[in-house]
Amino acid sequence: MKVLVTGVKGQLGFDCVNELTKRGHEAVGVDIEEMDITDAASVNRVVTETAPDAVIHCAAWTAVDAAEDEDNCEKVRLVNAVGTENIAKVCKELDCKMLYLSTDYVFNGQGTAPWKPDCRDYKPLSVYGETKLAGELAVSETLEKYYIVRIAWVFGKNGKNFIKTMLSLGKSHDTIKVVSDQIGTPTYTYDLAKLLVDMIETDKYGYYHATNEGGYISWYDFTTEIFRQASAMGRPEYSADRLHVIPVTTEEYGASKAKRPFNSRLDKSKLTENGFTLLPTWQDALQRYLKEIEF
Ligand SMILES: NC(=O)c1ccc[n+]([C@@H]2O[C@H](COP(=O)([O-])OP(=O)(O)OC[C@H]3O[C@@H](n4cnc5c(N)ncnc54)[C@H](OP(=O)(O)O)[C@@H]3O)[C@@H](O)[C@H]2O)c1
Repeated sequence: MKVLVTGVKGQLGFDCVNELTKRGHEAVGVDIEEMDITDAASVNRVVTETAPDAVIHCAAWTAVDAAEDEDNCEKVRLVNAVGTENIAKVCKELDCKMLYLSTDYVFNGQGTAPWKPDCRDYKPLSVYGETKLAGELAVSETLEKYYIVRIAWVFGKNGKNFIKTMLSLGKSHDTIKVVSDQIGTPTYTYDLAKLLVDMIETDKYGYYHATNEGGYISWYDFTTEIFRQASAMGRPEYSADRLHVIPVTTEEYGASKAKRPFNSRLDKSKLTENGFTLLPTWQDALQRYLKEIEF
């Protein structure tokens, strides 16, 4: 298959191109320099010239707090909503499959029940969530051959993420406060890329949720495991004797610009129902990730 991947300079796009190439597919990775997704003419030209069998659309505005700034709102909408619609329209013309990455932020995070992929009870709390939802609707209203895959708490080799931030903070602090009332599951882009390629090799279109396995946890739980594993790798600066992680509520932590959902539990049973292989546990993913990166 020939597959166009947007956002190749980001965390997920980078791993998608690698996974496609490994499997013998022809991968064409683009980022803003080659194709600004907000520019319909550029999207038209690049996608048409590439003539892919599928597009994996990873490019997005992902700076959740910066998205709340009044000066940025319109830009965020252009990238996440209009940019996605631009791609969906060309895919329609070319009769090509499209896989769009979305987020748990399309929901309001109330309750404790895991969100099902076909739940339509959307109530985004943030500009990022609203614009990613608008992207979803553009895809589902334009196309028939689409996959919308919601993911959460993403980490990959190629980009900034929570793990890198914690490892960096851990070096310079002896106490770190982390929220313990937002619950979800991390997603390792290396593992996710395999599932996404599995998906586009089928015609099992529709909405999916995907994160690593290993259970639902809080950011506090995640942090303690990051430091435990780092310390076990021979890095005493991360040992529990030196570095104290204190669980706090979102309220105690203090306001961030964007409201974040408390309940980011994503139900992944639809993956198994459709014969897809689930991702490994997040604990295992974390271990492989820490070996991959320098910290
Ligand atoms: N990160 C998360 O925790 C998370 C959670 C749930 C869902 N997702 C979704 O998963 C997908 C992949 O996330 P990620 O973490 O891999 O993202 P990422 O690392 O931020 O990469 C996104 C890429 O898109 C590029 N981009 C931004 N504006 C563009 C434009 N106008 N035209 C073309 N490219 C543009 C970015 O370039 P610049 O860096 O130059 O802006 C960046 O290289 C996104 O759709 C995101 O919304 C992410």
